[in-house]
Amino acid sequence: MEKIQKLIEEHVAYLIIFTVMVISVAGLVEIVPLMFSKSTTQPIPGVKPYTALQLAGRDVYIREGCYLCHSQMIRPFRAETERYGHYSVAGESVYDHPFQWGSKRTGPDLARVGGRYSDEWHRVHMNNPRDVVPESIMPAFPWLATNKVDAAIVPKEMAALRKVGVPYTDEEIKNASQEVDGKTEMDALIAYLQGLGRALGTMR
Ligand code: HEC
Repeated sequence: MEKIQKLIEEHVAYLIIFTVMVISVAGLVEIVPLMFSKSTTQPIPGVKPYTALQLAGRDVYIREGCYLCHSQMIRPFRAETERYGHYSVAGESVYDHPFQWGSKRTGPDLARVGGRYSDEWHRVHMNNPRDVVPESIMPAFPWLATNKVDAAIVPKEMAALRKVGVPYTDEEIKNASQEVDGKTEMDALIAYLQGLGRALGTMR
């Protein structure tokens, strides 16, 4: 044993090869099971790909940096599940590219915000959060109510997502532009928020 140690420590090439071997094996042991584990690659019942309008809303969510203050990942602790509902599971985010789990919570977690408020509440809140939550420090996003969704980009995005495994049909991609045409970014963002966490959302 001592001989082997001496050999490795005195020859830098052996040291490098050995280190890479150890890291690779350890890495594979962690990564490979995830590739075959259904719980991380299969959607749970009720989880559907985003509609064209929701997808456009998700883009707005990312562009405006909502994730800088809001996570979408409820941890399996009592304090979290009592406040937000069922903890998040991997099968809920299989269609999220990229996922929005996050860890920064200046505002509340949004993983199960779908259905918690009316569309109208969101409209007022996004336009000026202080109108519904006087002590809120969330910025206002009034331009969303007038900005129109770019209808040309949504079908391209859906086609790209299909390449990484989101099962959009040709029909859905064909109709996407029509579905979002004339809609504001506010409409899209609300459609996205209202869909969040619905599959497990009722299990409190
Ligand atoms: C600077 C941090 C910050 C940013 C950026 C931010 N928020 Fe918030 N958000 C908050 C805070 C703080 C609250 C809690 C007070 C309130 O309800 O306004 C909140 C509350 C919310 C709520 C209500 C959640 C609940 O369960 O009551 C929603 C929905 C929401 N934000 C959506 C968004 C969206 C969508 C964006 C991006 C367009 C966004 N937020 C950007 C800080 C932020």
